[in-house]
Amino acid sequence: MAAIIFLIFLLLVVVVTILVLALVFISGIVSDKYGVSFVPTRRRNIKKLFVWAGLSADDIFYDLGCGDGRVLICAVKDFGVMEAVGYEVAPWPYIKARFLIWLFGVKDRTSVLRRDFLKDDLSSATFIYTYLSHKLVEKLAIKLAVELKPGTRILCHTFPIDLGHHPEFKLIKSEEFDKITAYLYKRI
Ligand SMILES: C[S@@+](CC[C@H](N)C(=O)[O-])C[C@H]1O[C@@H](n2cnc3c(N)ncnc32)[C@H](O)[C@@H]1O
Repeated sequence: MAAIIFLIFLLLVVVVTILVLALVFISGIVSDKYGVSFVPTRRRNIKKLFVWAGLSADDIFYDLGCGDGRVLICAVKDFGVMEAVGYEVAPWPYIKARFLIWLFGVKDRTSVLRRDFLKDDLSSATFIYTYLSHKLVEKLAIKLAVELKPGTRILCHTFPIDLGHHPEFKLIKSEEFDKITAYLYKRI
């Protein structure tokens, strides 16, 4: 009897492992199709970035391409934002984000949508975080210039907005953190 239980347990472990590996593989393909792989912001930098950028409890926070949700969780837990919204197209980071949000007990103020942020209305954000690519930031800036209210802040990790193409934004400041450069903008 013990041997059968052990075999069933082993089978379950194998099935779950195969499922996770398949999800990780598919996620890589999906993310690449959208132009950027899942590379998370280092945990030790998230809080520093938000202190520097002045994220506050009055903010409605969006992480566009939210990966495993770590940035959303920090925004709610450490900065008490009113609402945190994440978009993620790849299935594995999306599932992980949903799980971590539940685990950290921030479900009531956090939502993660498995959708393309370029196809949704982002006008309710007061603070947007991005860690994407030059190409995606360029596409996004065209959309944000139309939708965002004046005063909305955008914090870009590594990939800045080209202000030559997008005079609707103003660079407030930029700084290096642990080998990455952060750019803080305001919609004017
Ligand atoms: C570099 S990761 C950053 C993850 C997270 N923001 C962080 O800093 O830890 C970028 C993520 O954006 C997602 N992504 C790319 N384009 C997207 C789109 N149009 N809509 C939703 N998610 C997208 C990718 O799947 C990837 O997981």
